[in-house]
Amino acid sequence: MRKRRVVILGATGSIGVSARKVARDIPDRMEIVGMSAHSNEEKLREAGQEFPGAKLAISSGPEGVERLVELATLPEADLVLIAIVGTGGLRPALAAIEAGKDIAVASKEILVMAGEAVMGAARRKGVKVLPVDSEHNAIFQCLEGRNSGDVRRLILTASGGPFRKWPVASLAGVTPEQALKHPTWNMGAKITVDSATLFNKGLEMIEARWLFDVEMARVEVIVHPQSIVHSMVEFIDSSVLAQLSVTDMCFPIQYAVTWPERVPNTLPPLDFAKLAKLDFEAPRVDDFPALQLARWAGETGGTLPAVLNAANEVAVAAFLRKSCSFPAIWETVEQVMRQHRSVAGAGLDAILAADTWARARATELLF
Ligand SMILES: NC(=O)c1ccc[n+]([C@@H]2O[C@H](COP(=O)([O-])OP(=O)(O)OC[C@H]3O[C@@H](n4cnc5c(N)ncnc54)[C@H](OP(=O)(O)O)[C@@H]3O)[C@@H](O)[C@H]2O)c1
Repeated sequence: MRKRRVVILGATGSIGVSARKVARDIPDRMEIVGMSAHSNEEKLREAGQEFPGAKLAISSGPEGVERLVELATLPEADLVLIAIVGTGGLRPALAAIEAGKDIAVASKEILVMAGEAVMGAARRKGVKVLPVDSEHNAIFQCLEGRNSGDVRRLILTASGGPFRKWPVASLAGVTPEQALKHPTWNMGAKITVDSATLFNKGLEMIEARWLFDVEMARVEVIVHPQSIVHSMVEFIDSSVLAQLSVTDMCFPIQYAVTWPERVPNTLPPLDFAKLAKLDFEAPRVDDFPALQLARWAGETGGTLPAVLNAANEVAVAAFLRKSCSFPAIWETVEQVMRQHRSVAGAGLDAILAADTWARARATELLF
């Protein structure tokens, strides 16, 4: 029985809180040795009181990234959970890999932006990239021990967000308050807005492409409003495996920590009699263009996924500040993508430059 010594980057966020819950639930298997917050010192102090041995770091300020890198490379750590919103976790993730540590990735943005670089570095160092996003964790479980040549399609499930049934004409009037009411998951603000635009699922398509080394054409999305089936894999014989559980991020976090083993916990089991039915429907790709934009970015590759991700981050922040409309999020992303000349086979420097360019371009378009 192996105990994992875990650093949590972004310990004060929604994933960070769930990860601390997992650590309390399976103390024989998970010990928290480091935690970061960006600016919420009080919440980090409280977390530190709960896990007194853990080293703490605040990542805002000029030396912030260095502090994250220091935590990510702590000699006593063997797994680093990247639970930072946006792309701030990229450098610490690469540093953790270089230091020979496995990483558990909740921050899908870093795989969208630099999936090739992260997965390539992990392969070279022989460390594991464990998916925490519930969909990718589900696919990871379904693929376990199977030959990737046997896979026909990865099928990501999407809740459809709060506007699944809204007429397209009403989307122009969506407010941040309405977008922040997710039907099934309770998450941080950015990912909740991403779930409402379906950019979250678009980012996840690109994330899946890198995590599982499949081309975009074999990554599909199906809307499943109950969020009980977390994703599925279809094999070449048309058999489909799915992973199901109650809607709680503690499940994928625990599996990333205890992998390849399973251990009992206090999480609730599914009650199929109460569930009664599971629904599936095709996503409204014309009304929510995020999925097509993500497919275009993922198929083109190079610097385009980083551009999509950066423009989306800027636009979501503007929407949350009420500086732009809800449809302006995808309209801005599309315009910035159209103005970008993607650099094929881009290295990390080109990707970072594209990210900076896209943020500036999106800001100019929005303000
Ligand atoms: N929430 C979920 O259920 C869920 C599910 C799947 C995937 N994810 C992914 O997990 C990541 C975290 O999501 P979340 O919902 O937990 O976000 P969140 O609740 O907003 O928390 C974000 C965490 O990151 C820290 N942070 C914010 N900006 C930072 C920066 N620039 N540099 C370093 N740290 C920073 C925050 O610190 P402060 O508290 O000090 O601001 C906080 O600890 C996202 O990439 C998201 O897509 C989340």
